[in-house]
Amino acid sequence: MPRSLVVPSPAKLNLILDVIRRREDGFHELKTIFERINLEDEITLSPSTSNRIELTCQHPLVPKDDRNLAYRMADLIRQHFGIKEGVRLQINKRIPVAAGLAGGSSNAAAVLLGLNQWWKLGLSLKELQPFAAKLGSDLNFFLYQTPFALGEGRGEKIEPLAIKTCLWHVTVTPKQPLLTKDVFMALKLKLTKKVDGVNILLPFLRQGDIRGVSGHLSNDLEPAILMVRPELKVLKEKLQRAGALGVCFSGSGPTVYAIADNKSHAQEIKARFDQRYAQVFIVSTHG
Ligand code: C5P
Repeated sequence: MPRSLVVPSPAKLNLILDVIRRREDGFHELKTIFERINLEDEITLSPSTSNRIELTCQHPLVPKDDRNLAYRMADLIRQHFGIKEGVRLQINKRIPVAAGLAGGSSNAAAVLLGLNQWWKLGLSLKELQPFAAKLGSDLNFFLYQTPFALGEGRGEKIEPLAIKTCLWHVTVTPKQPLLTKDVFMALKLKLTKKVDGVNILLPFLRQGDIRGVSGHLSNDLEPAILMVRPELKVLKEKLQRAGALGVCFSGSGPTVYAIADNKSHAQEIKARFDQRYAQVFIVSTHG
């Protein structure tokens, strides 16, 4: 057995997040465009000294027990396949926590991909899907290892998109986290039929028309995010004033991201932006 296995665990942004309807099971039917970005955690798998799952992480807000999705994934796989030995999961955390960037989901997907190798399970992408979907709506996207994808259902039905465009961003995450559940609970759905954000944005994205993409970002969760955290409106406006081509919330927030023309433009936006109360990163599409 190798002494350790290092698995990258990237974050995502949502360029479009359309909420279609509330479902009988309490979840919401979505249509979204995911973008994988090069803001990454790193997970190291190694043998455990006990026959348990041991999780370590330097970040104080990351739970180290079964409240952690990566821990739960290892537990699920271990139980499902009747594996006796434990595993050590060491998470090097860079992605802000509870931020709308799917860091926890990405960690769990990375553990699933990693354990498939570590325990030589030989599961295909299709066979990995149900394990991912069982633990959340955002895990499946990360199994595909694609820069862009269309997400449907509650977000777990993924269609990878063969798009070569590279976008540059500034991501801004306020210190106080926001829970996805609270945002969906505050959501009031409109009865009028709305425009299909995905179909409008996709041609711009395919053509690499950055201004077109920037002008058509949208997130139906925004009114609910602002209901729970009204002060985030100011954050969005500040990022806009710092020179962004377009600004949008990612997922259920509180992360707000900007689109920039290129890396140096992203650096200019970051320099102009008041960073006192936020974690700010320059990131690009993880191609
Ligand atoms: O799937 P995930 O665990 O990320 O979802 C967290 C919570 O967000 C769910 O319990 C649900 O309340 C809400 N949610 C939703 N519709 C979705 C995804 C999440 O209502 N498509």
